[in-house]
This record gives sequence, C-alpha cells and structure tokens, in this order.
Amino acid sequence: MSRILVTGGMGYIGSHTTVELMQQGYKVTIVDNLSNSNIGVLDGIQAIVGERPDFEQVDCNDYEAMDRVFSTYPDIEAVIHFAASKAVGESVEKPLLYYRNNIGSLITLLELMKKHAVRNIVFSSSCTVYGQPDADHLPVNEDAPIQKALSPYGNTKQINEEIIRDEAHADADLRAILLRYFNPIGAHPSALIGELPLGVPQNLLPFVTQTAAGIRKELKVFGDDYNTPDGSCIRDYIYVVDLAKAHVKAVERMLGGKSAEQVEVFNLGTGRGLSVLEIVRTFIEVTGVKLPYQIVGRREGDIEQVWADPKRANEVLGWHADTPTEDILASAWKWQCHLSEQ
Ligand code: NAD
Ligand code: WQD
Repeated sequence: MSRILVTGGMGYIGSHTTVELMQQGYKVTIVDNLSNSNIGVLDGIQAIVGERPDFEQVDCNDYEAMDRVFSTYPDIEAVIHFAASKAVGESVEKPLLYYRNNIGSLITLLELMKKHAVRNIVFSSSCTVYGQPDADHLPVNEDAPIQKALSPYGNTKQINEEIIRDEAHADADLRAILLRYFNPIGAHPSALIGELPLGVPQNLLPFVTQTAAGIRKELKVFGDDYNTPDGSCIRDYIYVVDLAKAHVKAVERMLGGKSAEQVEVFNLGTGRGLSVLEIVRTFIEVTGVKLPYQIVGRREGDIEQVWADPKRANEVLGWHADTPTEDILASAWKWQCHLSEQ
C-alpha cells in the first residue's frame, strides 16, 4: 500500500488524518518538529489504530533533514502538508516567523518532492482566503473571490496557494489538491486524540470546553450586535474526523489518476452556518454542564458570517461532512474530560 508523508502529523488535524489513512491501509510517515504538539500523540494514534506510524522529528524548513526523510522512505507517493504556524493573532505580532515558517516549509517541500519524484501534494488551506464574502457569495464556493488577507497568517495561505499553482505551471508532473477548511472542531470518538491548544485558546471550542471544565472563569462571546439572527457571528463548524476523511479521499483521487486538472480546490465545510450563541446553547444542552459566558465587545478582525458550499467536494470527492453538531460537541467535551483526568 502507498506511503503518505504527513507533515505536521502530530497536530490536531494531522493526527486525525493519520488515523484515517492508516485505517485505510496506508503507510504513514509523520514529520513534525513538535513546535505545537507533543510526542504523546503517537501513543494516542497507536492506541486507536493498533500500530505506530513512522515518525521523524524534523523541521520542514531543514532542507538536509527533509532530504534524508525522502531518502529514508523512497516509497512516499504523496504528501499532505499540514505543518504551519496557525495562530492569526500571533501572526500579526510575529509576521516574519509566519512567512518564514509557512512559506519556507512549503518551498523546501516542493523542491524535495521534485528531487525525489514525488508528484502529489494535498495542501492545508483555509476559508480565511475568502475574507468576508459578499452576501450574494454565501454560502461560499470555490469560485468566490479571494480577498485581501486580514492577517499575515491568512496571507501565507494565499501565497502558498499561488506558489503551488506557479510550480504546477512549471512542472507538468505535479498534482495538487488545495483543501480550504472552514472551522474544524471536536475530537476522535475514542477521546485518545484531540485538539491540544498550548496556552490560552484563541479558538471558540477549546475555550468553551476549558470553561466548562473550570480551567477558564467564563467564556467571552465576542459581540452580539452583528447583522445575524441572534447577533453573534456565524461559522461553518466541521467535525475534525469528517475533515480527516476528506484528506483520504483527496489522496485516493490523486493516486488513482483521477485529478481533472493539475491543481484542484475544494471547500471542506458542512454547508450549514451556526452562530456562536447556537454553539454555546447546544453545548450546554448536550453536556448538561454549566458554561458561564458573557457577551462582550467584538473581537478585532472577526468576520461576521461565512459558511461553505461543499457541493464540489460532495460530488467530486464523494465526501460529506454529516456528523451532527450535537455529536461533535459531545466528542469535544469527552476529550476535555480525558485531558482533565491526566
Ligand atoms: P496544529 O498546530 O495542531 O498542527 C500543526 C503541526 O505542525 C504541529 O504539530 C506543529 O508542531 C507542526 N509544525 C509547525 N511548523 C512546523 C515545521 N516547520 N516543521 C515541522 N512541523 C511543524 O494545527 P492544525 O489545527 O492541525 O492545522 C493544521 C493545518 O491546517 C495548518 O496548516 C493550518 O494552517 C491549517 N488550518 C487549520 C485550521 C484550524 O482551525 N485548525 C483551519 C484552517 C486551516
Ligand atoms: C469562531 C467564532 C469568534 C473565541 C480562526 C482563524 C481561521 C482558522 C480557524 C486557521 C468567532 C467567536 C471565539 C472566544 C468567541 N484557523 N469566539 N469567544 O476566527 O472563525 O477562525 O480559526 O486557519 O483562519 O481565523 O475561529 O474559533 O477563533 O472563532 O466569541 O473565546 O467564535 O468571535 O465569531 P475563526 P474562532
């Protein structure tokens, strides 16, 4: 069976994707520098799958070390590139770190893929490339206009998409699938892997679960004066396991020679928008736990509402994100309880 190189595979989405790949029989080599994850994730993956993926603790920006990885695993047939720095706020404070890490690692990877004749890459992109779509572009599809990035992080995603397109134009052998994720949430149903935010969580769900667990005093809901039904922002919250399964579909499509063009783009979302207050209310209903929260002012940089039109991924990849929100929130809480027991 084919071997897949999963960069950033010790992270939130990468670890869930590694589980799904291995359960489909793929061999996996994870490359991760553990800058935002820990080695214990390997135990979680092994406990779920029954075997350990190959793991190389390497920085994707380290050309020589990455060259050795490709030489050590000559059967690599595709790469899924998750490795990146992903905190929007941090990217505003430390833009050079984000440009070096996120763009440098992709360039190194593409150079080595060419050297080692690895022709397939799946790239982790983000709905952030759409900015705030116009009302007539909601739900947002892949043809919606790319808007000026609101953060250096978002800009690295846009630049990386362009780098891949330019490299594909220069190298007819390269196949790429750009996956634009909406808002991944939840954890594996086993509660053996999940999101491991270091420090104070910036994202909604880990802050919700940490507040419910008593780690945080209260959840601040950033604004209820938006032009939405309940005044809070709307997002497309997709179950991380459904998201992981889309990566298996993308790899199968490329390895099966089914790519319709050198570079394909897919929005990965549920197609339904949920407000912050709906998430809060559903979490409380599902778990029965107290969740102290307070409505405060808007967070700078937040867009009002965005959710996906996932039709292309549904039809072309044969993939659907259909896990009920209630089950996703229950999985997030089960994971938080597992963390609290440790
Ligand atoms: P994460 O931080 O949990 O995982 C990223 C992993 O990459 C971490 O394990 C980190 O140690 C590793 N890493 C970072 N830089 C590296 C480097 N130079 N070399 C080797 N390893 C490196 O993040 P995630 O939430 O799993 O996101 C994975 C990808 O998906 C990222 O590219 C992110 O931009 C993208 N994405 C995430 C979201 C989200 O909401 N989580 C949404 C859209 C896109
Ligand atoms: C969701 C909603 C907040 C925390 C970010 C990145 C995006 C992608 C996913 C990488 C918003 C509200 C949040 C809190 C709150 N990451 N919120 N209180 O901002 O949609 O997207 O993560 O690619 O690029 O921008 O996700 O989870 O931070 O916020 O009210 O304590 O929850 O205002 O409306 P976001 P988020």
